[in-house]
Amino acid sequence: MEGIDGPKNVSVTTVYGYDETVQLVVGDTGPGIPAAQLERIFEPFFTTKENGLGLGLAICRKIARAHGGTLLADSREGEGALFRLVLPRADKGGTSPAAARQTSTAGLG
Ligand SMILES: Nc1ncnc2c1ncn2[C@@H]1O[C@H](COP(=O)(O)OP(=O)(O)O)[C@@H](O)[C@H]1O
Ligand SMILES: [Mg+2]
Repeated sequence: MEGIDGPKNVSVTTVYGYDETVQLVVGDTGPGIPAAQLERIFEPFFTTKENGLGLGLAICRKIARAHGGTLLADSREGEGALFRLVLPRADKGGTSPAAARQTSTAGLG
């Protein structure tokens, strides 16, 4: 949200029990993400910032998937962005961190 004038609002919501997952939903009132970029932002080294690295979201999705979950983005351009971390509930067979570590040694992608 750097470079945005005015109020910067971030909302954090947790959702339990939906579809046997737990979800952490983080929304902001930043510039949003163009629809054509909604999947590209998860590609390693995709960045729209002058000095960006483009690894943050790729790594976060990789970790989420290693735990049997995923990371999704949604946005209305000009209004904000919404990121949804989806993880399987532990009592529904979710992957333990120890098991996930063994599967997360492969490269990004
Ligand atoms: N909250 C957000 N609002 C709008 N665009 C975002 C947001 N988070 C990430 N992006 C877009 O996704 C791209 C990739 O993000 P990231 O993987 O964290 O790498 P970096 O921050 O180094 O650019 C950013 O360059 C930006 O275009
Ligand atoms: Mg980043």
